[in-house]
Amino acid sequence: MELELRGITKRFGPLVANDGISLSVAPGQVHALLGENGAGKTTLMNVLYGLMQPDEGEIVVDGTPVSFNSPKDAIAAGVGMVHQHFMLVPVFTVAENVTLGIEQADRAGLLDRRRTRREVADLSHRYGLDVDPDALVEDLPVGIQQRVEIVKALVRQANVLILDEPTAVLTPAETEELFRIVRQLRDGGTSIIFISHKLREVQAIADTITVLRRGAVVGQTEPSASADELAAMMVGRNVQLRVSKEPAKPGAAVLEVTDLTVRGDDGRTWVDGLSFDVRAGEILGIAGVQGNGQTELCEALMGLRPSSAGTVTLNGRSLTRASPRARLRAGIAYVPEDRTEDGLVGSFSVSENLILDLYDRKPFASGINLNLPAIAKNATERISEFDVRTGSPATPAGTLSGGNQQKVILARELGREHKVLIASQPTRGLDVGSIEFVHRRIIERRDDGVAVIIVSSELDEIYALADRIAVMYEGKITGFRDPGVPAAELGRLMAGGADADPESAGAAAAVPEVAPAPGAATLLGAATVPEAPAPEAPVPDVTVPDVTVPDVTGPGAAPEPAPSHGPTLPPDPGDPPGPSAAQEET
Ligand SMILES: Nc1ncnc2c1ncn2[C@@H]1O[C@H](COP(=O)(O)OP(=O)(O)OP(=O)(O)O)[C@@H](O)[C@H]1O
Ligand SMILES: [Mg+2]
Repeated sequence: MELELRGITKRFGPLVANDGISLSVAPGQVHALLGENGAGKTTLMNVLYGLMQPDEGEIVVDGTPVSFNSPKDAIAAGVGMVHQHFMLVPVFTVAENVTLGIEQADRAGLLDRRRTRREVADLSHRYGLDVDPDALVEDLPVGIQQRVEIVKALVRQANVLILDEPTAVLTPAETEELFRIVRQLRDGGTSIIFISHKLREVQAIADTITVLRRGAVVGQTEPSASADELAAMMVGRNVQLRVSKEPAKPGAAVLEVTDLTVRGDDGRTWVDGLSFDVRAGEILGIAGVQGNGQTELCEALMGLRPSSAGTVTLNGRSLTRASPRARLRAGIAYVPEDRTEDGLVGSFSVSENLILDLYDRKPFASGINLNLPAIAKNATERISEFDVRTGSPATPAGTLSGGNQQKVILARELGREHKVLIASQPTRGLDVGSIEFVHRRIIERRDDGVAVIIVSSELDEIYALADRIAVMYEGKITGFRDPGVPAAELGRLMAGGADADPESAGAAAAVPEVAPAPGAATLLGAATVPEAPAPEAPVPDVTVPDVTVPDVTGPGAAPEPAPSHGPTLPPDPGDPPGPSAAQEET
């Protein structure tokens, strides 16, 4: 199927999200869409999938103009889409989810479901998807849930499959699996539209690349283009893919964690007697395969999750029993891993989100009144400083592009006074230019004497930022290393390899002695592992996200339900009314 977009324009009020975009997608090709945050990629795909109507332009299928008034039309024409935030029903089985929406078409629902189960099994077999039609979606790891979305599109006979940032939440092993599936589909004649901010992924999988900037196509290029070239095309300037920094000058320990233990409701030990400290002016990078307790550690440090043993102190003052709010007030800035759940209130404006936990403080409050000019001034400054692409400060944060939502959280947290910064996956979903900016800001905070913890599944990010690296495996720290450590040695520790004498680290790195954990297997063997940059000769493109080990939910482990709490940090009882007053008090 030949697909063509001709002159697509989509406006949201005065904002032109897509500005006369033309694009043609050939059969049996992987067409990558690159572009900075807010460039209009998701909007264009929403138009193509019939979720939004273009203001101008047309979609042409095999030479005939068509109009997609809903996804149903798009599906009928052979277009399938896997959204960045999956749209599966967790309590339904795979087959039920796949049938959802097509069921009504047939009167014999039951028969239809039986057919779907068979189709799921067939497709699963044909493409090596390994999806069990009877599994409950909520029991599946993220990578498999994504395959269910792919099966859903394939059952509907998609000839064009849209994947919007499919790798953002995958482990390296899951990403490789996805690429294998994508190549197989492509070889079978399916066209794939692939969106990612990870340049090396795009170089690895794309047959052709279209770059968008500020709603318009700025060019088309080949995957042989260098990361520097791609970055410059996307952002319109040269990007320093690896931010330079001076060696840390650590001061006294600011955050001290002793024997911290966190257990889940099911009795599982997520954090197992961890002890470490973070000193003023240093960045501790926490690396690890997803699901090894990093998320739970951060939540416990913020008081969002109870700890069953151990202590946390900030400048010698105990925070062990403090509420999340008290911890923020004590000087911890927090960038949560899940921005939509913990970081933002989507229905609140950008300017309200920029003061979420500060609205009752000076200068934003005087007495019980909000100081609106101060709030507006703060918003204007933060928006311009962090280059948040938004129609206006009054725009609901939920309508911003994914990367711009992340920037709002970073602007709020990095913009207020803090002694400790805990940032989990701080640059997930950000474009390369924004990653450069955020990395610079984090290093600046370090140089101002802030004690920083970065949890990242991107080894590149760990290397770019960390002054000291801790590797987590099954709730424990398997080793601390300095940032010159080879990636293979980190891989060994990430697979649960016992801490070795740093002297012998080099030897141990060559041949992992321990059978690698599933998520780490490819990390050790794959060519995608970046060479550890020698401190004196930084590799220029190491920050380009590539090796992903997100820790949203563990493979094989059902996501641990977080203790219920409101968006961001819930206000304490008795807080004066403010923009957060609508937050659920849980
Ligand atoms: N429903 C909406 N209402 C108002 N504005 C919107 C809406 N959807 C998108 N926009 C705006 O359109 C622009 C393009 O957003 P889009 O989500 O397409 O960007 P993107 O290229 O996918 O970015 P990212 O890489 O951050 O995901 C942004 O400025 C965004 O705020
Ligand atoms: Mg997007």
